[in-house]
Amino acid sequence: MEKDPSPENPKNEIELKDGVPVSLLFDDVYFSKQGGWEESSYVFLEGNQIPSKLAKKDHSIFYIGELGFGSGLNVFVTLDFWKSLSNPSLVTFISLEGFPLKRDILLTLNKSYPNKTLWFEDLLCSYESAIKLWADDRTQNLWTYTWTHSSNQSTFTLQVFFGDVGFCLPQFPKIHSWYLDGFSPGKNPDMWSSDTLKEIQKKSNPGTSFATFSSAGFLRRNLKELGFVVEKKKGFGRKREMITGYLK
Ligand SMILES: C[S@@+](CC[C@H](N)C(=O)[O-])C[C@H]1O[C@@H](n2cnc3c(N)ncnc32)[C@H](O)[C@@H]1O
Repeated sequence: MEKDPSPENPKNEIELKDGVPVSLLFDDVYFSKQGGWEESSYVFLEGNQIPSKLAKKDHSIFYIGELGFGSGLNVFVTLDFWKSLSNPSLVTFISLEGFPLKRDILLTLNKSYPNKTLWFEDLLCSYESAIKLWADDRTQNLWTYTWTHSSNQSTFTLQVFFGDVGFCLPQFPKIHSWYLDGFSPGKNPDMWSSDTLKEIQKKSNPGTSFATFSSAGFLRRNLKELGFVVEKKKGFGRKREMITGYLK
């Protein structure tokens, strides 16, 4: 199937399996109903040691970069943690998305996690307006939304660039921690190509960390060649391995 990033791409069909969206284009799930929240927390939040990094407050703004916004689950997990802090620093969470999901599909996330505050009306409307703008003018591809913390008025800013990874990633600023979540490499090589990884390295500083559910051999080799220290970890649940690391 042709992969054409587009806000209205009819090929980006989504099927619901057991209430969870599955991309027919990539033949992969967006999140898992059982344990998806815990998996995101384990792989990306803990994999990047976000709790200790935010506690240290080494940066005036902590930048998290994500490949693959999807349903927004990773953002909500990170936001939930940030909201639980008593005096958090500023966070900017920057993601990209070539095939934005529609409202009814995003709302399946709310149904899967009814005890969490996820997609609410104002957030959905803001997202939909941004996609409409992008559909009319492909250069207008940035959506921004900001939350303010009740304890100290710190902000958590979400920015999502719409379009292909090759177009969006060069628009990222320097990142402190990466969430690499672009479907499995076997099903979606573009999100893990050497061009993508080189761009990730360009947008990293020494010490910038990354985490991903994948532990594919080619990925480990390519990251090491680009100067990243790569560590294998136990994967979430029944998954044997995942990898984390940082730029030397
Ligand atoms: C596994 S999903 C991301 C899940 C997401 N992090 C979440 O929390 O729901 C991977 C995402 O990458 C997007 N994607 C895949 N290939 C892409 C490409 N070449 N450029 C931009 N986005 C792409 C897909 O549309 C999908 O939303």
